[in-house]
Amino acid sequence: MSRHPYPLGDLPSPSPKLNPAIIRRDFPILERRVHGKPLVYLDNGATSQKPRAVIDAIRHFYENGCANIHRGVHLLSGEATQAYDRARTGICRAMGAAHAEEFVFVRGTTEAINLVARSWGDLHVHAGDEILLTEMEHHANIVPWQFLAKRAGAKIRVLPITPDGALDLERLPALLTEKTRILAFTHVSNVLGTVNPAAEICKAARDRGIVTLVDGAQAVPHGPVNLSEIGCDFYVFSGHKMFGPDGIGVLYGRGKLLASLPPWQGGGDMVERVSFEESTFRPPPDRFEAGTPNISGAIGLGAAFAYHDQLNWPELREHEHNLVTATHEALLSIPGLRIQGTVPGKAPVVSFTMEGIHPHDIGTILDSEGVAIRAGNHCAQPLLARLGIQSSARASFACYNTLEEVETLANAVRKAHRYFA
Ligand code: ALA
Repeated sequence: MSRHPYPLGDLPSPSPKLNPAIIRRDFPILERRVHGKPLVYLDNGATSQKPRAVIDAIRHFYENGCANIHRGVHLLSGEATQAYDRARTGICRAMGAAHAEEFVFVRGTTEAINLVARSWGDLHVHAGDEILLTEMEHHANIVPWQFLAKRAGAKIRVLPITPDGALDLERLPALLTEKTRILAFTHVSNVLGTVNPAAEICKAARDRGIVTLVDGAQAVPHGPVNLSEIGCDFYVFSGHKMFGPDGIGVLYGRGKLLASLPPWQGGGDMVERVSFEESTFRPPPDRFEAGTPNISGAIGLGAAFAYHDQLNWPELREHEHNLVTATHEALLSIPGLRIQGTVPGKAPVVSFTMEGIHPHDIGTILDSEGVAIRAGNHCAQPLLARLGIQSSARASFACYNTLEEVETLANAVRKAHRYFA
């Protein structure tokens, strides 16, 4: 594996907050015990834990500044509006973009993709057109496109993966045809851990005038993502996987493209003028944020970005890389264990199956040892079908995990093997 994995973007200047033992102190839940054992939380791909900075920001809003935004003439409303807007500006800056209006607050990755499939899709995808996805997509980046394809009479096409779990990019040019309207693909696979070369893929599409959407849900937790380097049209992610609260996420849309799209939900705060005959709409991002938004969520996500931004990512990426390498080495020494996804430079996601043991049983035995992992189809049934399995166990790491926790995981998996072998 390469020494510096996850080429996701420019890195901020190093801070002294490197040591996972120090970072762990920022996450109160990591003190917890589970079934009498110290919690070893390895389900970060499903959701990450939250640092005190995020918890405090949300508590502070409700204890000191709770009000609705954009509507009040009173002080609290003004402060809440400023805090909400500041969160958007901070996220824009952290992601290397120039215009905060390109960032729409949504419920999460799923809602962002549904928004694009509705608003952009209904305008631009017609009978006979093609929507290109990849074999490693999460259901959230498949089902909204199926809805669109049905409405429009369009066709879904799929870029396959190679046996080690990379995208088969040699087959990409042939799939980008004059019928292709959009290429929607994941930046990092939630099952395989593969980090896809997003900039290269987007360029191939852009050179042919094809719109791109990148699902960044599993990428943003592992270091800064620089949107100007990637050059996509849409980038989507959830807050809760990158130390932020749940129920909040972001749709980034390239300025002119976003401004050309119709709203997908109607209501207050997204309109300019309303009569019973017709309504006119505000420019983005307001146009896509109908109704009272998740104000505390946006403030919490802003705090998560501020926290994320001051971490020493060059060192932490190396640390996450060491966690993956150690996990692979420890697990592969267990007879009958297979790992899905072995592409060099992968993100810290390790999915595995064991001969004769159902993944749910692996998960249950690990839980009894205090180790939290995910077991199931990981919302990626087409990928698992391609891999010839129905489910797998998955350990997914964050920068606060330690090599000692890898050892605890491996011991618990050995216990599961002894129990069932
Ligand atoms: N998409 C999340 C996962 O991979 C829930 O676990």
